[in-house]
Amino acid sequence: MVKISADNCIKCKKCEAICPVTGVDIENNNISKDCIQCYHCGAICPQKAIGKGKLVGKTSQNNIQPYDFELLMEQRRSHRIFSTQQVSPELLKKFVEHMRYSPTASNLQNLSFTIVTNKKKLKEINDLSIETISKAFRSINDITKPIIRLLKGRHTLKTMEQSKRKFLQKAELRKDMICYNAPALIVVHSESMPTGMPCHDANIWTGMATLYAELLNLSTCINGYIVNAAKRNKKIKQVLHIPIKNEIHSTILIGYPRTKFENRIERKMPKINFISE
Ligand SMILES: Cc1cc2nc3c(=O)[nH]c(=O)nc-3n(C[C@H](O)[C@H](O)[C@H](O)COP(=O)(O)O)c2cc1C
Repeated sequence: MVKISADNCIKCKKCEAICPVTGVDIENNNISKDCIQCYHCGAICPQKAIGKGKLVGKTSQNNIQPYDFELLMEQRRSHRIFSTQQVSPELLKKFVEHMRYSPTASNLQNLSFTIVTNKKKLKEINDLSIETISKAFRSINDITKPIIRLLKGRHTLKTMEQSKRKFLQKAELRKDMICYNAPALIVVHSESMPTGMPCHDANIWTGMATLYAELLNLSTCINGYIVNAAKRNKKIKQVLHIPIKNEIHSTILIGYPRTKFENRIERKMPKINFISE
């Protein structure tokens, strides 16, 4: 719980101004019960008079230049060919621990992480996901197609048929098409929360994790298929020892790369609409 130390406070009230829930009342030495414990108050206090216990040092100027970040963004790619080199459990643990600074809605910090490095388990997840998604795709057949067309429209049906063809074709050719023989898989999950946005939290985490991984010379591939398969087949959560009440929001394959992307590529320019008047 956030506490105010009246002895050190100089009543500059920067904490009151910064609090996202307007929960600091310096005059009455009170913190509202709505406090989300983000500690913006402590982070801004020149006197360290609030949020004691969570203050771990001074912030320092980072030396990352905009160009460094632009290059990192541009050069990050999904990797599907991994080296057989294992990623140490210590590094994976450190990785996930550092990623705790990724923001969460209402500062809930409620994400849980399951890290799989066991080869047999990874293969099991791979095979179960293929089996589950193949089954779902096979349910798009001559009997169900007219219903799908009626409910979702011709265009959606066509896209679904294309996805079915591509998936089943690839599943024939690449038996490792889900986990790509990656040495590790990180699964991001949480209990479903009526007020939070855990799925967004997890996907923001995942996006940031792909960038952090690059800086550690690790490569990643975000994997949506496992998320999709886990929604359809509860055995996937069982294999991962994830409680039944938890939902898998995102997954990321991680390992050392076996290939290097030599060339930079162009991307579609985003459509931007300015509303300035
Ligand atoms: C939400 C999300 C889900 C994804 N799911 C998969 C997946 O299941 N399998 C896969 O091989 N790639 C997956 N990807 C990777 C995309 O295919 C990849 O990001 C895209 O083709 C662009 O390539 P790049 O990441 O190398 O820039 C996913 C990416 C995102 C953002």
